[in-house]
Amino acid sequence: MSKISYFTPQITKEDINKVSKILSTKWISTGQEVSKLEKDFSKILKVNHNKCVAVSSGFSALHLACHLAGIKSEDEVLIQTINFVAIANILKNLDAKIKFVDCKSKTNPNISVEDLEKKISKKTKAVVTMHYGGYPCNMKKILQLQRKYKFCLIEDACHAIFSNYSKKKLGSFGNFSSFSFYANKNITCGEGGMLYCKSIRNAKRARFLKTHGLNRTSLSHYKNLQNKYEVNEAGFNYRLDEIRAALARSQLNRIKKNNLIRHKIFMKYNKHLKKNNRINIAFSKYTKNNFSRHLYVIISNNKKKIIRALNKNRIGHSNHYKPIHKLMAHKKKLKMKNSDYIDNKIISLPIYPGLGLKKVEKICKIINLC
Ligand SMILES: Cc1ncc(COP(=O)(O)O)c(C=O)c1O
Repeated sequence: MSKISYFTPQITKEDINKVSKILSTKWISTGQEVSKLEKDFSKILKVNHNKCVAVSSGFSALHLACHLAGIKSEDEVLIQTINFVAIANILKNLDAKIKFVDCKSKTNPNISVEDLEKKISKKTKAVVTMHYGGYPCNMKKILQLQRKYKFCLIEDACHAIFSNYSKKKLGSFGNFSSFSFYANKNITCGEGGMLYCKSIRNAKRARFLKTHGLNRTSLSHYKNLQNKYEVNEAGFNYRLDEIRAALARSQLNRIKKNNLIRHKIFMKYNKHLKKNNRINIAFSKYTKNNFSRHLYVIISNNKKKIIRALNKNRIGHSNHYKPIHKLMAHKKKLKMKNSDYIDNKIISLPIYPGLGLKKVEKICKIINLC
């Protein structure tokens, strides 16, 4: 049987043409294409275009969010433990106090609002929620908690381009949110990301901070033909370039269609796996076409056997995620009922536009024989 990769990015002729066009202009660092990407992205996110700031990665978006939120040494920040490690790394490097929160249930790896509420205190500076696989955390309850405890809310929406929730898009609820355009994301330009800021003031600051703190961009420098500049605040280099912006913009044109293809793949997997009582399917009841469907995740006691069969048949798979508090760099002895249960049982299966439904059937057949 031919190999089925866990993920293959979709790069079309149109994508290549758009990138080539930028290369031929010879303006390749940040410029007008980046501004256009911010505008296109904000339109789909249904927010003011001044609030979206294109950056070099999901990590940079999260780091800028934490910086703008004023998170510093000893500040208490709550994050879910079934999570990508980026946010924990950022907080550790800021010397913040990380409090890990359990996941909702044995089939929902999103943050448990009950455990969150138990662990919140008046000292909580920020809560970072990650919409696992593009499925919404309980934002209604989290926003209620925010009103009560006044913490800064950061949404890690790296998986959630463009999931719907209560007539809005995920990633437009918090004070800040992050999106990633890494190679395996629903939109990719290799490396890239987007920061959303609820306040235009913060977005304006982010624009300076992402380019070393300089109070002008190379584009404004070029347009104004002036060579004076100032640095009011020490910044970073988190810029996105024109080449990547062109690729991301081109991908944005078909995100709606591609998310629908992912939805169909999700439904196909469900159809063929739902009778298998040796596995649980994460978010299996989320059957509306409302989500980015970034991941398709099964949870099974039979993980070892399934992995062996997938490997034997050259089918790619992944693990989202080992709980962060069990990673060497962030190790803590904690009891987490649901996360401990899920750990070592999670398998992410291929889900992407180029996969094809026939291959989904094959994958299911192999899993059902285990
Ligand atoms: C949930 C989540 N947060 C943050 C990131 C970091 O994004 P990037 O790799 O673009 O820095 C990722 C990327 O894999 C992610 O999946």
